[in-house]
Amino acid sequence: MCGIVGCITNGTEAPEILLKGLKRLEYRGYDSAGIAVLNGADIRTIREVGKLCQLETALADLDLPSAVGLGHTRWATHGRPTEVNAHPHRDASGKIVVVHNGIIENFRQLRDELEKEGVTFTSETDSEIIAHLIARFYEGDLAEAVRLATRRLRGAWAIGAMHADHPEILVGARKDCPLVVGLGDDEMLLASDVTAVLDRTQKVVFLDDGQTAKLTRTSLEIVDEEGHPVDWTATVIGWSLSQAERGGFPHFMLKEIFEQPTVVSDTLLGRLEDDGEHGVLADLGMSADELTTVGRVHIIACGTSWHAGHVAKFLVERIARIPVDVDYASEFRYREPVLGEHDLVVAVSQSGETADTIAALRMAKAAGCRTLGICNVIGSTIHREADGSLMTHAGPEIGVASTKAFTGQLTALVLLALELGRMNGRLSQEEDARWSDRLRALPGQIELCLKRADDVHEVALKYVSAQDFLFIGRGINYPIALEGALKLKEISYIHAEGYPAGEMKHGPIALVDSRMPIVALCTHSNVREKVITNVEEARVRDARVIVVANDGDDEVQPIADDILWVPRVDDLLSPIINVVPLQLLSYFIARERGADVDQPRNLAKSVTVE
Ligand code: M6R
Repeated sequence: MCGIVGCITNGTEAPEILLKGLKRLEYRGYDSAGIAVLNGADIRTIREVGKLCQLETALADLDLPSAVGLGHTRWATHGRPTEVNAHPHRDASGKIVVVHNGIIENFRQLRDELEKEGVTFTSETDSEIIAHLIARFYEGDLAEAVRLATRRLRGAWAIGAMHADHPEILVGARKDCPLVVGLGDDEMLLASDVTAVLDRTQKVVFLDDGQTAKLTRTSLEIVDEEGHPVDWTATVIGWSLSQAERGGFPHFMLKEIFEQPTVVSDTLLGRLEDDGEHGVLADLGMSADELTTVGRVHIIACGTSWHAGHVAKFLVERIARIPVDVDYASEFRYREPVLGEHDLVVAVSQSGETADTIAALRMAKAAGCRTLGICNVIGSTIHREADGSLMTHAGPEIGVASTKAFTGQLTALVLLALELGRMNGRLSQEEDARWSDRLRALPGQIELCLKRADDVHEVALKYVSAQDFLFIGRGINYPIALEGALKLKEISYIHAEGYPAGEMKHGPIALVDSRMPIVALCTHSNVREKVITNVEEARVRDARVIVVANDGDDEVQPIADDILWVPRVDDLLSPIINVVPLQLLSYFIARERGADVDQPRNLAKSVTVE
């Protein structure tokens, strides 16, 4: 969703710093962009519709030496993506400038109120009211005016604000949208996420809900909603800038697919029972007793993370024999779920900032459940608010289509299932040791899948012009069919559906003909033969079939037009392997179709509004 960058420096390069920071936030998705910089006694604002290269071109013609500024990438919610709706927005005097991420739910009421007071609006956005509200409360102290203005808002916001009469300060405020302060060398930065500031500093302060921050070049003051000073501590981010850059790959998505062996081994590091380190218990925020009494697990997530949650249902039920419900967070929060004190609610989220998942987590906490966050971003809202956390160590995921974060989540969820099984006595020591061996072998097995990327590319070339795809699987690979379909549709814009193979006869088979390729997950499991039968039923209706099968499985040859070979692993770990060729297939099809793989249309990396 929208991205915010702000800087206050001792030089004259604010426009360059802002543009660079915005480029690092491109992955969040946007349709217009702009910056505002203090230039002499005035604030100059430059805004463009479209990609950042348009803004860059506009800036190239201008000479704007400046030490202070704000930048923004906008993903339209209220008002079309036009230049007037692009941020930054100003108050009527033109001296106060704001950028905003989020949605102001009471903006109509506030707009009416301000219009009655004589304010003229120049945009259709909900965000512009913030500039006018700050102006209403401004009596010489910008940070205080921002704080008072936010008290009138309902909804979600991360705000950056500056004032032409105060070149020495920037102000940030947040509620339900992430905002971090970067503590640089004789400079301060403000950003929606840490990737935007990584080339200038790794030291950041994550703002909490209701806080307002006043930044000068060398100081940071934070107050709460009531204006009381808040102590802050800086976090040092372990990610390097190169981890957030493409490193020679044509797209972030491909780079991230290839990083998966490392992601799996990093996520396992020190957490296997026989590692002799702390295992996962220390991270979970629950005592051994509390874990032993978990009677039901609820998993809440969105999109790809929901698919990981769905795989976890099979893992936890089979390994620990604890019943698991899996909900879309957006459904969970409104369906009045039955929750009990022995329930564990697990929020799975790469970003840790997905609005629906945060709301569902808060609801579970309010109901008295123990909560656990499985996140990739340290310091994110879910990481901070859940009682415990099991971090995935995937590093920054930039491609909008999630790949390495997914395999990181699956790995963490296996660890959770094992820990629950250990605690309730369902997992024997011998079996536990076997799991450690199987998990340690995974990175090498993923490597093998990646070595076959050229074979997947060749298969992809045959299907580039398909209009529709079906992905089918059963058991623990049914969610992988869903994930394969989601990957393909989001980056190639080909219509794709995932189905449990056994459901084909109940409707979807009516769609099958020679124009409908089917991708079938046929790796070894107790349902493999059943999937093979389902594939045969589709083939006799002229379907072209791509099969994902285990090396050496001769039985699949007759039913497949194309085969994506993968090494054989335990059925419960097969999702981590089987998803890899599906990610590659989607990637190559999308690339051949000339799609914008890393930033698909209409999508945002982090969905911070409901
Ligand atoms: O950051 P989260 O894991 O909470 O994000 C959830 C979804 O928005 C995300 O997985 C989305 O579906 C991706 N585009 C999938 O590739």
